[in-house]
Amino acid sequence: MGLGSFRWRILLIIISALLLWQSSKVWLNFTQEKSIIEAQLQENQPVTLSQKDERVTQKVHVAVYYEALCSDSRNFFVKQLLPTYHRIPDNVQVELIPYGKATTAKTENDYEFMCQHGPTECEANIIHACSIDIIKNVSIQLEYLSCMIKNNIEPVNIMRTCAKKMNIDHNSILKCSVGAKGKELLAKHGELTNSLTPRVVFIPTVVLDENSENQAKILKNLLQEVCLHLKVMPEGCTV
Ligand SMILES: *[C@@H]1O[C@H](CO)[C@@H](O)[C@H](O)[C@H]1NC(C)=O
Ligand SMILES: *[C@@H]1O[C@H](CO)[C@@H](O)[C@H](O)[C@H]1NC(C)=O
Repeated sequence: MGLGSFRWRILLIIISALLLWQSSKVWLNFTQEKSIIEAQLQENQPVTLSQKDERVTQKVHVAVYYEALCSDSRNFFVKQLLPTYHRIPDNVQVELIPYGKATTAKTENDYEFMCQHGPTECEANIIHACSIDIIKNVSIQLEYLSCMIKNNIEPVNIMRTCAKKMNIDHNSILKCSVGAKGKELLAKHGELTNSLTPRVVFIPTVVLDENSENQAKILKNLLQEVCLHLKVMPEGCTV
């Protein structure tokens, strides 16, 4: 090995080392800046953003298992559910399951139902089920069901009366309720009711975010219990 090539090698090593040192400095600088930005993002923006998001989007799922001729269901609709919806409409996702303490028997290509308060209640529950299926606007749906449940003893009459009062076209609801569709819907509500654990002992049963604890508290003050589920209290919870 000549002396010349040895010098070249030393020089090459030194140059490489210098280059490595400089580029690592730039790299470190870059990663440092990146982590500073990330830290800032975590400390400031996302927290305020997510709080705002939650206020807009966090909805408590309110599942109401009820029956049309039950006075406790009526009271819950009129005194708890409707007022709570009016107070915090953006923070509740209401699911209504009219069926209650009924039974379903599947015959060859039909269903037979037995309802706690007799055949009239089955008829009323079917009209409720059809209304829920057809009226998509939750606000109108709740008003309509509340209107009917106040006096559901003559289900078809009250369906007409409330529809007229609220300017709803009830023909499709009537058609659904006297046909196979209405029975299918009620049977589906029966399955949902029977799949609850623990099983329903009291009607109405109200399940908040899949949690069926605190029934007494919920039936007494739905708004308060829903608000306890919200990470950020909307105005409706505080005024
Ligand atoms: C490192 O970043 C700072 C700005 O944060 C800049 O002023 C400096 O020139 C950078 N150094 C290198 C070696 O890139
Ligand atoms: C539902 O109906 C109410 C009352 O008519 C109306 O104010 C609201 O905008 C409707 N909502 C939707 C999503 O259409």
